[in-house]
Amino acid sequence: MEKKLIVYYSYTKNTKKIAEQIQKATDADICEIETVKPYAGDYNSVVDQGKQEVDRGFKPEIKPLRVNLEDYNTIIIGTPVWWYTYAPAVATFLSEYDLSGKTIIPFATNGGWLGHTLKDIEKACKSAIVTNAIDIKFNTDKMVTPEITLNKWISCL
Ligand SMILES: Cc1cc2nc3c(=O)[nH]c(=O)nc-3n(C[C@H](O)[C@H](O)[C@H](O)COP(=O)(O)O)c2cc1C
Repeated sequence: MEKKLIVYYSYTKNTKKIAEQIQKATDADICEIETVKPYAGDYNSVVDQGKQEVDRGFKPEIKPLRVNLEDYNTIIIGTPVWWYTYAPAVATFLSEYDLSGKTIIPFATNGGWLGHTLKDIEKACKSAIVTNAIDIKFNTDKMVTPEITLNKWISCL
């Protein structure tokens, strides 16, 4: 059976934790999206920088992925919500990599304001099949979405 791939970006590690939980349960391959230039400064300055980047559609340079996407038909994409949409590093990933014909399963961690994140992923992946998306809420680093909701979703992957 073909392996699935989890691709995720994470700044404060919530999305990373979920990605790793999915990986353990499904034995999918996993790959982190990393910006070439790390976000620096305290949390609030990154929140401000993130707003500017989202507002102008900035796509930060990312390191090349350590996997070949051609090896996978199903890609689980994880992003934190940054200003009601996916993080700029994920915007770079979506614009640089060809996902046409693939099945995309998105998950978006956030502090309660998902905004249009999942719709935006659908828009950015027009040539793919986007399905089974999930919104995972956190209070800082504590998951608010019930564990059972997450586990049910994972068991359908
Ligand atoms: C730049 C920035 C913008 C954010 N914008 C939102 C937002 O619009 N809605 C929301 O609910 N949370 C927002 N958050 C909180 C994160 O989405 C939330 O903490 C997420 O789980 C972080 O994931 P990570 O730990 O993988 O980076 C923002 C955080 C940052 C750093």
